[in-house]
Amino acid sequence: MISYELIAKKRDGGRHDRQELEFLIDGFVSGRITDPQMAAWLMAAYLRGLDSRETAYLTEAMVASGKTVDLSGVDGEPVDKHSTGGVGDKATLVVVPLAAAAGVTVPKLSGRALGHTGGTLDKLESISGFRAGLSVAEFVGQLKSVGAAIAAQTADLVPADKKIYALRDQTATVASIPLIAASIISKKAAGGAKNILIDVKTGSGAFMPTLAESRELAAVLTEVGDGLGLKVRCLITDMSRPLGRAVGNALEVKEAIDCLTGGGPADLRELSVRLAALMVEMAGLVADPDGAVRLVTKCLDSGQGAQKFKEMIAAQGGDSRVVDSPDLLSVAPGRRVIAAESDGWLNIADCGRLGLASAVLAGGHLGEKGQIDRSAGLVMLAKLGDPVKTGDPLIELYYSDKDRLEAAGAAIAEAIGVVSARPEVRPLIRE
Ligand code: URA
Repeated sequence: MISYELIAKKRDGGRHDRQELEFLIDGFVSGRITDPQMAAWLMAAYLRGLDSRETAYLTEAMVASGKTVDLSGVDGEPVDKHSTGGVGDKATLVVVPLAAAAGVTVPKLSGRALGHTGGTLDKLESISGFRAGLSVAEFVGQLKSVGAAIAAQTADLVPADKKIYALRDQTATVASIPLIAASIISKKAAGGAKNILIDVKTGSGAFMPTLAESRELAAVLTEVGDGLGLKVRCLITDMSRPLGRAVGNALEVKEAIDCLTGGGPADLRELSVRLAALMVEMAGLVADPDGAVRLVTKCLDSGQGAQKFKEMIAAQGGDSRVVDSPDLLSVAPGRRVIAAESDGWLNIADCGRLGLASAVLAGGHLGEKGQIDRSAGLVMLAKLGDPVKTGDPLIELYYSDKDRLEAAGAAIAEAIGVVSARPEVRPLIRE
C-alpha cells in the first residue's frame, strides 16, 4: 500500500477499508507516514467525511496503536466522562472527584487544548508538580488506591490520538464529527471503562454550533462506542456562553476548587452535579435519578469531593494544598477590565472568540503550542443576558505580557456586545 494513494483516494471522495486505515494509523505512529502526509489526509477526511464504517475502523486502529488498560482487577463498574470541548469547561475537575467520592471508579484519559477550547491536562498542570503522563501500571494503581485518575494520551496509551490531535490543532481539522468521535472513543476504549458519559457541547463555543450537528455527533459517538462494546450516554449542554465565569487554566482550576468547596457559579455546580449523578446511575450504585442527585449533592456539600480531589492531585505528584489554599495557584499579575460602552444587556455573539482571547493571553495561538502561560486568561464579570449600564465591568483580563492585550481585545470585541433587547439565554442542559 502507498500512503500517497490513500491520501488521493480520500481527496477524491473514496471510501477506505479496514486495512487501509490500519496502514495509515500504524504508519503515522511509527513515523513511516510523515506529518505533511497525515495533515493532507486529515484535511481530505475533514472535507469528504468518513462514513460510519470508516469511523469505526479508524477508531479501532487508533485504540490498537497503544496499550489498553485492563480494569478487571478494579472493583465495581468504572465509568468515564468526557466533554466534546468548550470554553471555560472545567466540569471534569469537579465531576471526576465528585463521582469518585460517591463511589464511582473513574479512569479518564484527557486531552490538551484543542482549537479555541481548553484542555483538562493544561488546567491540571497549572497545579505545581502535577504529572499527567502516567504509565498503565500507575494509572491502574491509582484507580485502586484513590478511585480516580486523569491521565494523558502517551506513547503507551493511544499514541495515535496524541499525534493526530496535535496535528488537527495545527491544520484546522478539528471540527469534524468522525475525527472527534474517533479521538474521543479511542481514548475511552483504551482507558478501560465500559460505561462512558459524554457531555456533548452545543453552541458557538463548541465544535458543533447547532443542536442538529450536536445530536449527530452524539449519535455517532454512541454508535462507534457501541461497536466497541461500550455503553455510551450523552448529555447535550449549552456552550453559547462560557461555563462558569473563568476561562484560562489556573483561573479555571480556582473556580473548580470553589465549586468543590461549596461556592462557585451556579451553572458549574448544576452541570457537575447532573453529570456526576448520571455516572453514579451508570455505575449501578443508585438506580433512581433523584437518589443519585441526592448522593452527589451530599458528597459535594460535605467536602468529600474536595477531599477526593486532594487525593488525586497528591497521587499524581501535585501540590494538593491548592484545594485548601487556591491562592497558591499562580495567576497572572496584569489586569485589564473591559467595560460596557452603552446601556443594555450583555450578548455573546461568538463564545469561541472568548476561548481564543484566553488562548492569546496565554501565548498559545491556535495550533502553535510553545510554552503556554497557564496563569493567564479572563473572567466574565457579567454573564450572557445580564443587564448592564455604561461603564459597568464586563470582563477582566489576566495577563503577564502586555503585547498580547491588543489581539485578545480584538477577539473579545468580536465575541461580545451590549444589545438593546435581552438576548436569549438557552437552558444549560439541552437534551
Ligand atoms: N475532545 C477530544 O478528545 N477529541 C476531539 O477531537 C475533540 C474533543
